Amino acid sequence: MDTSFSDAPTPLYRQLCDRVSALIHSGALRKGDKLASVREMARQQGMAQSTVLQAYRALEDRRLIEARPRSGYFVAVSAPAASKVARRAPALAVPAITTPPADSRSVDVSRLVEQVMSAAVDERFISFGAACPTDDLFPPERLRKAMSRALQQHADSLSHYPFAPGIRPLREVIARRALGMGCTLDPERILITNGCLESISLCLRAVTQPGDVVAIESPAYFGLLQIMESLGLRALEIPTHPRTGLSVPALQLALDTQPVKAVLLVPTLSNPLGSVMPLGARRELARLAREHDLPIIEDALYNDLCPRAEGRRAIKSFDTTGHVLLCSSYSKTVAPGLRLGWVEAGRWSSEVQRLKSTLSGGHTELLEWAMTELLDQVQHEPALRQLRATVAERMAQARASSSPTASRQAPA
Ligand SMILES: Cc1ncc(COP(=O)(O)O)c(C=O)c1O
Repeated sequence: MDTSFSDAPTPLYRQLCDRVSALIHSGALRKGDKLASVREMARQQGMAQSTVLQAYRALEDRRLIEARPRSGYFVAVSAPAASKVARRAPALAVPAITTPPADSRSVDVSRLVEQVMSAAVDERFISFGAACPTDDLFPPERLRKAMSRALQQHADSLSHYPFAPGIRPLREVIARRALGMGCTLDPERILITNGCLESISLCLRAVTQPGDVVAIESPAYFGLLQIMESLGLRALEIPTHPRTGLSVPALQLALDTQPVKAVLLVPTLSNPLGSVMPLGARRELARLAREHDLPIIEDALYNDLCPRAEGRRAIKSFDTTGHVLLCSSYSKTVAPGLRLGWVEAGRWSSEVQRLKSTLSGGHTELLEWAMTELLDQVQHEPALRQLRATVAERMAQARASSSPTASRQAPA
């Protein structure tokens, strides 16, 4: 086989992708055939493993091959079906998996974020910069009642200092609700925070030192990058697919070659891609964490908004060794203004709680009482279902208005 690709203008991974694709179309590679492992193919072709991985992911995007956990890559279609796939033009092409640099980099985003944030409040622009829910998603009467009941019943909480980890009834209701993510959490280990970002910041402090490398999705939410910048951490971007999220094989490769100290990711409805990691990949990540003794910081902020129950299940639900630090908040689902989040930091729980006490003390108990009431109300579950349906409807509208047909029909 000719392996001299270097003079051609097409990128190496595309060349490999086209070759394998041609073999599938010709029937030389048949449905169910196993492809050479990434390592083996890299050796055969004289390419970097990351290039082979990129080619395999591109073939997955074309639905020509599929990855099976711990078994490798297999041809997913027969030759006639492959030709059919090639003829079917998608309404709006799914962007390809991202191809970030292979090395870690220091993070320097705060100036850019400042510009984006000031543009976000400028009325001349439509803000795509932050995932801020609109006011109408949260019925004010429910919030007002919960706040006034908290004030009536717990005004005395204003006259003393609140202490971490937060009031026990709220930690209990959070533990009960975590069953919806497939997790059995001990309320004793849950810590109340000022929002998901504070939870993540505490976890990063607990598991890293300045200069450490943290693997993140590519692209990642700018708020996470800002925290990393403030802590002097280096970002190792892992290729991320817009549908299935962070590539676990690419992460595995990174763990073999780079000094990764932690992984930080948003497995459900990642910001900005909106990807949802399949269950198999979540299970694999928990296994990697265990085998590499690696902390995984899971941002589960959007889990409750995912329309599919499978997408609401947390990586934490597969964690048997306390390597997953689960962070979330109610900023997107109950009341953004209460700034109320939480974290269950597994084997780093005591350290995270100590950091919280040192850095910012406890949260405001009155707000914790109001949140306990909101989460415990019988209306909470129907309200959440309604919110999911509204968000899904808005997404469908956004999709329809950005499809090629819609833009062709728009008045000139
Ligand atoms: C992925 C992700 N994590 C965390 C946050 C911030 O969460 P909180 O407001 O609870 O701090 C956001 C906000 O947009 C987000 O998109």
